[in-house]
Amino acid sequence: MAPDAGPQYVAAVDQGTTSTRFMVFDHGGNEVAKHQLEHTQIMPKPGWVEHDPIEIWERTRSVIQSGMRSANLQAGDLAALGITNQRETAVVWDKRTGRPYYNAIVWQDTRTDRIAAALDRDERGQVIRRKAGLPPATYFSGGKIQWILENVEGVREAAEAGHAVFGNTDSWLIWNLTGGVNGGVHVTDPTNASRTMLMDLETLRWDDELLGFFGIPRAMLPEIKPSSCPEGYGPSGADGPLGGEVPLTGILGDQQAAMVGQVCFAPGEAKNTYGTGNFMLLNTGAELVRSDNGLLTTVCYQFGDEQPVYALEGSIAVTGSAVQWLRDQLGIISGASESESLARQVEDSGGCYFVPAFSGLFAPYWRSDARGAIVGLSRYNTNAHIARATLESICYQSKDVADAMAQDSGVPVEVLKVDGGITANALCMQLQADILGVPVSKPVVAETTALGAAYAAGLAVGFWKTTDELRENWNEGRRWTPSWDDTQREDGYKGWRKAVERTLGWVD
Ligand code: G3P
Repeated sequence: MAPDAGPQYVAAVDQGTTSTRFMVFDHGGNEVAKHQLEHTQIMPKPGWVEHDPIEIWERTRSVIQSGMRSANLQAGDLAALGITNQRETAVVWDKRTGRPYYNAIVWQDTRTDRIAAALDRDERGQVIRRKAGLPPATYFSGGKIQWILENVEGVREAAEAGHAVFGNTDSWLIWNLTGGVNGGVHVTDPTNASRTMLMDLETLRWDDELLGFFGIPRAMLPEIKPSSCPEGYGPSGADGPLGGEVPLTGILGDQQAAMVGQVCFAPGEAKNTYGTGNFMLLNTGAELVRSDNGLLTTVCYQFGDEQPVYALEGSIAVTGSAVQWLRDQLGIISGASESESLARQVEDSGGCYFVPAFSGLFAPYWRSDARGAIVGLSRYNTNAHIARATLESICYQSKDVADAMAQDSGVPVEVLKVDGGITANALCMQLQADILGVPVSKPVVAETTALGAAYAAGLAVGFWKTTDELRENWNEGRRWTPSWDDTQREDGYKGWRKAVERTLGWVD
């Protein structure tokens, strides 16, 4: 039931890989306000991807101010604010000045491949797998912090003196929102911390042995607080972009936020989010399931003083960003929606496959030596076939992960719950149902990431009382059912696996 007095809304900031958005929701989970701005993708060398943390903070301020203005809202209309964020991306800043020492090193960045490979060569790799639930890989924050400590002058000394601090973009934004150099709080939650290779999954604490592997001083790290935190992380400053004090009570990494937004609260419930990359998560409840098939073990959420809930995750580095690549690097489409109209010009991909292994291959392969390839080309192929192969690559990568999940859990996916930008592409969703051979279901409110962060924040202040109340807000908006027969599905997948083989071992 909606509160009859007091604030009627909960807000969320979704700080993603390509953009930052601010959204406001009512008690029914309906969108009340939204504003979004992109930020610059800085790619100084092959394999390097950076963001400017100052630009991200400025964009965050702007989207909050414009979002509030557009819906004519005041700080007093908001019961709470939640933050959700691109995970793993590492920011190291000077808490005396608020200046970052270096650009944020983005989760897609592969410059730490030697650090990751060295860890994997000896028993340290096994310790990281056991304690953190992750394979040593360039993807996670630990190696990125080590790289900054080793390559940016003065950072190690500043870190040892307690001046240089680390955070993913959740910590960076909360520190700024709560006052920055004037007493900003330095916090994160277990979902973000579980992506660093530095946190013990069982204790939800930073682990000295893991910190030692990367040479990271403990003083650099944020305090780990619950994802839904009744005591709050600290109020937003009255002179901040919200224009008044609003309790900050929710933090979730963006993929875990989508789990909450999709109300995947019971063991066995799963979702697939189509963003810059794709991320399929399966709720495993209180059980920490170790994958035998290339999936990650991660924290799904921790609400208040309840036990943490865990998940298995299949992370795919490049899906939506492959569509952006068609637009920005190849120039064969002028916007994401054109990928659908172009791909619809042909019946199939004309025998070609695109494996967009731009950052190596993540789950279930974990091969940083892979690089992208388009194979099977003949003179017959056109831009339209490449566009269709790009959409198919998104779906085939999701099939790889769904198969791994079925093997680990022993339960095949029966219906795939989806969300994220590419779910607006109906052809891609149809191909997903065809390639997986199961129905694909999208909720009415497809902004599940921001919604999940709002839910975490709102649960903390009693705006929503229970997760059952949130379940009532979930409604199916559209469903796609498979149309391929088994032979078409099996032949298509065989071709995909052959194409993947071609990309492995490309980099020494
Ligand atoms: O692990 C990376 C992920 O959190 C990024 O998500 O939606 O910003 O591509 P997105």
